[in-house]
Amino acid sequence: MVHLGPRKPQHRKGTFTDVPENLLQQVHDIEQQLTVSGDTLKKITEHFITELEKGLSKEGGNIPMLPGWVLDFPTGKEKGDYLAIDLGGTNLRVVLVKLGGNRDFDTTQSKFALPSYMRTATLDQLWDFIAKSLKSFLDEFFPDGVSSPLPLGFTFSYPAFQNSINEGVLKAWTKGFDIDGVEGHDVVPMLQAAIEKYDLPIKVVALINDTTGTLVASMYTDSDAKMGLIFGTGCNGAYYDVVKDVPKLEGLVPDDISPDSPMAINCEYGAFDNEHVALPRTKYDITIDEESPRPGQQAFEKMISGYYLGEILRLILLELAEEKKLIFKDQDLSKLKELFILDTSFPAKIEEDPFENLSDVQELFQTVLGIQTTVPERKIVRRFAELIGERSARLSICGIAAICKKRGYTSANCAADGSVVNKYPGFKERAAKGLRDIFEWETEEDPIKIVAAEDGSGAGAAIIAALTEKRLAAGLSVGIKKN
Ligand code: BGC
Repeated sequence: MVHLGPRKPQHRKGTFTDVPENLLQQVHDIEQQLTVSGDTLKKITEHFITELEKGLSKEGGNIPMLPGWVLDFPTGKEKGDYLAIDLGGTNLRVVLVKLGGNRDFDTTQSKFALPSYMRTATLDQLWDFIAKSLKSFLDEFFPDGVSSPLPLGFTFSYPAFQNSINEGVLKAWTKGFDIDGVEGHDVVPMLQAAIEKYDLPIKVVALINDTTGTLVASMYTDSDAKMGLIFGTGCNGAYYDVVKDVPKLEGLVPDDISPDSPMAINCEYGAFDNEHVALPRTKYDITIDEESPRPGQQAFEKMISGYYLGEILRLILLELAEEKKLIFKDQDLSKLKELFILDTSFPAKIEEDPFENLSDVQELFQTVLGIQTTVPERKIVRRFAELIGERSARLSICGIAAICKKRGYTSANCAADGSVVNKYPGFKERAAKGLRDIFEWETEEDPIKIVAAEDGSGAGAAIIAALTEKRLAAGLSVGIKKN
């Protein structure tokens, strides 16, 4: 994707020409539904703070707030060779990380695209795919074998309960995944069994969330990093809390872990507002939720993350074309009717079209959907893409603002990774504006900034594996009290 840098939205309300009045009315109506004011952002943030607290309480709440059992800050001195794998939404990444011990690291990685059936594959297909990918990586980079088993950090980017650093019980699949037999089970023994089936010299040492990895990797190189965030296929954030401030851990923490010890928390805030009291949901958001394999879950994520942005646009266009018959007249709408046919690169490319007559948009519609568009239609479509992108960016930062307010951070580097923050045009600028709307800073420079993250699922997983090995070697606990 070509990134053209910040650009000003071009088609503000009322600036369309050659658009019939009834269509214009619809466009304005959608503009209103998708616009989130600064006041709304403030209200959402306040509710978010309450929900973060609830998640940490014994009763629990919508946001899982999962203790990740990373009990140390990285020092930058962690050293050694580690393997890391990252089962994300679109790829499996296998990474060899050489931690240099001087806030530095080298990585060698291979990406294995998840076949399209993998989202709904069988359990065996999933673990076989992972083990085979690991085998092909080892064959390539360790053709002579290894002298002792390689420690591996497993980045599992789904909500997983952890009673210790080396386990993860999947709560529920997200991002359209739906593989039977994993929810409610610990994925670490499953991975280790697949590794043994293929006789690979690997020992799984730690299971981490991608946000926790991002947090730790970014702190390894940047002492101002306070949060690890992913704005990609899914969305989520992690930060360090303090053991004694996590009420739901009361009575569970072994004596060798101080109440003042840091504890990484994987918020899983994609589940924010599952009870639908704060977010301004539209009928498109409701349809997406109803059509998803897990209705009622990940309410926040379904409004902002990459897996859904193209689908929101598709639903709007389909409504105007098929139900209201206001656009794409006499065009074949069969492709537009296919669920999830538009991935996030579609609205992103629409926003990137540099031509006045939006000729790139025309080509895109022709290629992907087989639809001929008129110039006014393309301008309207562009406006929708802007609205969807802007809403995503503005809502996204409510999680950041809430964590900062809860922890009392007045300045912070919020380390972010993921396809949306890295590739969606204007996301960073829109997100920064959202933060300014909430905090109303008068300083020249924003004290709370979104910065590019270090490689969380590679380096982060390796650093956490190194921290874990160190604790284990010192005889320290890495999980809840054992009876
Ligand atoms: C998952 C999180 C993950 C996020 C970003 C969400 O769908 O539940 O565990 O951190 O996506 O990858």
